[in-house]
Amino acid sequence: MNPIQLGRKRLSEIVWAIIDEKVDDYPCEELGEIVSTQQSLRIRAEYNTGSVPYDDAVDLYKIVKFFQPSNIAEVGTFIGVSTRTMQLAAPHAHIFTCDVSNDINLGLVQVTQYPKKPSHEMFEDLAKQEEKVDLIYLDGRLSEKDIPHLTNVIHNETVFVLDDFEGTEKGVANAMVLEGGNSVLIYPRGGNKTAIVIPMTLLHLVRQEAV
Ligand SMILES: C[S@@+](CC[C@H](N)C(=O)[O-])C[C@H]1O[C@@H](n2cnc3c(N)ncnc32)[C@H](O)[C@@H]1O
Repeated sequence: MNPIQLGRKRLSEIVWAIIDEKVDDYPCEELGEIVSTQQSLRIRAEYNTGSVPYDDAVDLYKIVKFFQPSNIAEVGTFIGVSTRTMQLAAPHAHIFTCDVSNDINLGLVQVTQYPKKPSHEMFEDLAKQEEKVDLIYLDGRLSEKDIPHLTNVIHNETVFVLDDFEGTEKGVANAMVLEGGNSVLIYPRGGNKTAIVIPMTLLHLVRQEAV
């Protein structure tokens, strides 16, 4: 008998369609304000690099709004476009965010910053505090040092969101570290660069979808 196969490509289209359907409204003006005003913090950067563009901020907003995580960890604070975007989508969530080369204080409540700290040190600290995170946004590059500590702060429903998923950029490298038998990679849509790694436990095959 032939099985019905559902590959990443087709599943990605389905997942984005579901996210768009459930999060059919988003605050375009506030997101635009975040993307533009945070740029003024670049003068405080020791390592002045790229930030999240508007279309990816919209995708990040929708993903966080859809999953509604309580605890979020972020690798790559920089000027805080993504941090503020996630906070807008999940105002009650606590966000832990680190940046190995920058120490720009974002001055946000419910955000714990790890300035000038590599991700493995943040994950190690979170594990010591017995924190578990529901969503991890990766806008930095994971290394082997992260894995043992990362494993201690995730649970079986933790979702990963990857920026820069194109070519041989860091999003693709991070996906290779993360995607395994228990999760599936959702490709970015359109010309965007935001990918998602969703654990199988959050994919439910149901007779009828809840409205
Ligand atoms: C593209 S920028 C992040 C942009 C940020 N998300 C924003 O919206 O403004 C990437 C940042 O990640 C930091 N970074 C890269 N790998 C890291 C790691 N493993 N741990 C901590 N920070 C890291 C870099 O220092 C850099 O500042």
